Amino acid sequence: MRPEPPWPVEPIVGPFSLADRDRYARWRDAKLEAAPTRIEELVVEVADPRHLSEAEHAALVDRCGRANMALYASPTGGDADTAIPVNLGRRFGLTHLDHNPGADDGGITAITVVDSSGYIPYSNRPISWHTDGYYNRPDRQIRGLLLHCVEQSSDGGESGLIDHELLYIAMRDAHPEYVEALMAPDAMTIPGNMEDPRVMRPDRSGPVFWVDPETGTLQMRYTARRRNIRWKEAPLVAEAVAWIRNQCETAAYCLHGMLQPGWGLLCNNVLHDRTGFVDQPDHRPRLLYRGRYYDRIAGTW
Ligand SMILES: [Fe+2]
Repeated sequence: MRPEPPWPVEPIVGPFSLADRDRYARWRDAKLEAAPTRIEELVVEVADPRHLSEAEHAALVDRCGRANMALYASPTGGDADTAIPVNLGRRFGLTHLDHNPGADDGGITAITVVDSSGYIPYSNRPISWHTDGYYNRPDRQIRGLLLHCVEQSSDGGESGLIDHELLYIAMRDAHPEYVEALMAPDAMTIPGNMEDPRVMRPDRSGPVFWVDPETGTLQMRYTARRRNIRWKEAPLVAEAVAWIRNQCETAAYCLHGMLQPGWGLLCNNVLHDRTGFVDQPDHRPRLLYRGRYYDRIAGTW
């Protein structure tokens, strides 16, 4: 196995530099002014997600620019054509798909209950707060994420969504020392998995918050899982992680909603969770398509 590249270490300039309080204050004020506060503000109705109109595209970019995410609502419920997420993603510059285990040849993953998989996303169990691909190597970080709903459960399967920039602001305003602790390149370690031939990865350490040198944007890597994660043994890291857990359950900027059939989430890999659900015997099973991209949504930096 070849050695992996390190995390970017360039000195951070701009609003995410802890030393630059002026630029942070300006960025923060503009962000809070523009950020949607209700999930309905994120929803854009589209006639055909394979072929967005200019106005639909612009409305989705606007939401993603302000909230790092948007929801599109289309009348394609029940249509299992993977060209829907593929074409839609392309329109936003999402072209470099992460070929994770479970993805089809085109890189799109069907999220549905597969009893034998052993992985929670393919079960009907709840999924705790996380960003996608937090265990990926530094040069394969997931910046864009697309979830397209083909079929939904009538019992559960609700999504929670958090713009990670809002969580960052809440943390930096109350506890800048937590932000600093979580930007350490050894803040979180995902133990290696050398047994599953589909995965085969070494121990992988990295920061929770990092600044993408290519775009200057803030990225977040996080999982609320308590197993298969090793937090740095430092009091500030433990406090910061407990603080995030609490925020995810209580903060007003946590949005909740249900993706309806034909709807989808387009986002810059924001924090999300999912409640457990039950597939009904008289209804087609819940099915979502997921695309994970190395690209960020074009027009949002
Ligand atoms: Fe996810």
